[in-house]
Amino acid sequence: MDLSEQCIKTLQTNDHGTHTVPAPGLYPHQWLWDSCFCAIGWSQIDIDRAKQEIFSLIHGQWHNGMIPHMIFDMSPKYARSRNMWRSWLSNNSPSDIATSGITQPPLLAEAVSRIGTQMKKTDRQNFYKKVLPALIKHHQWLYNERDPHKEGLALQIHPHETGMDNTPPWMNQLHEHSLPWWINIIERLHLNKIINAVRKDRHYVPANQRIQNTEAMMCWDIQHRLRRKHYDIEKILHRSLFLIEDVHFNSIFVRNNTLLTEIAADARITLPEDLLENFERSKVALESLWDENFNTYFSRDFVSHHLLREPTIACLMPLYAGTISQERADKLVKIMTNDKSFWLKFPVPTVPRNMRSFNPNRYWQGPTWINMNWMLIDGLARMGYETESEALRSNTIELLREQGIWEYYNPQTGEGLGSKDFSWTAALALDLLEV
Ligand code: GLC
Repeated sequence: MDLSEQCIKTLQTNDHGTHTVPAPGLYPHQWLWDSCFCAIGWSQIDIDRAKQEIFSLIHGQWHNGMIPHMIFDMSPKYARSRNMWRSWLSNNSPSDIATSGITQPPLLAEAVSRIGTQMKKTDRQNFYKKVLPALIKHHQWLYNERDPHKEGLALQIHPHETGMDNTPPWMNQLHEHSLPWWINIIERLHLNKIINAVRKDRHYVPANQRIQNTEAMMCWDIQHRLRRKHYDIEKILHRSLFLIEDVHFNSIFVRNNTLLTEIAADARITLPEDLLENFERSKVALESLWDENFNTYFSRDFVSHHLLREPTIACLMPLYAGTISQERADKLVKIMTNDKSFWLKFPVPTVPRNMRSFNPNRYWQGPTWINMNWMLIDGLARMGYETESEALRSNTIELLREQGIWEYYNPQTGEGLGSKDFSWTAALALDLLEV
């Protein structure tokens, strides 16, 4: 079977009718950015199915505009998973389905516009008109609830909102501000065996490729605290020590603001004036994350306003935003193509090799992920770095051809890691093959 046949088969296997699950077994629900990437893949083979992926995400939208990072399978066997989040505690949650209480990178406009480019003008405009109200509401929510000081950047309240669950700067912040006493006790009493037993992910993927127990417990603890506050942003912001303006999330936000503007223009819908003003403010605000000494962008602690100076792939993501100056983009491309840090045999690792936290096998602490490569390939091309974009595209396709469809890959050996038959890898491979 050639690569594109493998990709189509993977998407079809993981297709649950209205949405695509990220992988069989390990991830049985719907995730926000996964579905956006899947829709991009579906649009290459079945436009109606691609549109359906978007409609099912919108079905999960909260009354305040948030699109949750997870929409749960409602079958009885997943009652425990739904109960972890208890979205019904919030008046803002939809009444007919259960979801998580946080969001994920806002890639909906990207998915919608990619589907649109495959459609005839009138069909496209009709599709855009149908999804625009939800899309606008989602971006408005990001400003209303997540930008309380009107800085132009959206803040994140849980590491999973970045989609890069255990990325080192976030894990370090958790250690510093949010290490609950009971985690210390579990560690001191060497009770890790109990944690291992309750972690279902270990049934599917070797422990050394997944998030570590302490990190998983810290994430769980934050989730529990958000749930106690019924996901009410006023209560969460009040005296919270743990809020981050993540550079990866905000780069995606800025790009999707631009795409939303284009979609609305195409559908001849006027966006609210204050939303357009916010879009402009965000472009400027992204620049406030630039660090002159490191010549790169970093995430920022919302409370102390200090940059979190720890290089990861997130620092390169303003290339995807597409609004940064050529001068700064040049500096990022130089960092990205340095073979001591990011340009390994199978780039782009999520943590540069010369960092102490680099681990080529562990989740978001080193492995190469195809969705990150896809966004960089796209951003590089848009910013005029055709050679680098093409080099990364052909390297990524070679990796996929050699290894098949995995969740992530060892950037030094290419070995496929995590879950096999991972949906967004298949979906984005289809798109990369198309160019
Ligand atoms: C993991 C990833 C996240 C993804 C989810 C479902 O939690 O870190 O980015 O959305 O799995 O695939």
